Amino acid sequence: MADGWIDACAADDIEEEDVLRFDHAGRTFAIYRLEGDAYFATDGLCTHEKVHLAEGFVIGTLIECPKHNGRFDVRSGEAKGAPVCINLATHPVKQEGGRIYLRIG
Ligand code: FES
Repeated sequence: MADGWIDACAADDIEEEDVLRFDHAGRTFAIYRLEGDAYFATDGLCTHEKVHLAEGFVIGTLIECPKHNGRFDVRSGEAKGAPVCINLATHPVKQEGGRIYLRIG
């Protein structure tokens, strides 16, 4: 897209308090829908051992990695619990016309 936003999915493709994997241009991302229809996006792989976070669980504002149960705050990417200590990169998200758009840096 000319303005840098990438059409990722329909807003309804993600259940509330769930996460969706989105692959684009050789990279993988995780898009989260929190309670109250708040959408966020991060890099898709855990910073511990490169596991897809979209296979984990959303707990409140956290994503729990499916492999060793490390947790990140999906809003800031902040690592929240052992064994993860490296923060996740986050990406701006907007919702428009029932679609979710990502801006990837
Ligand atoms: S791979 Fe995610 S916590 Fe270990």
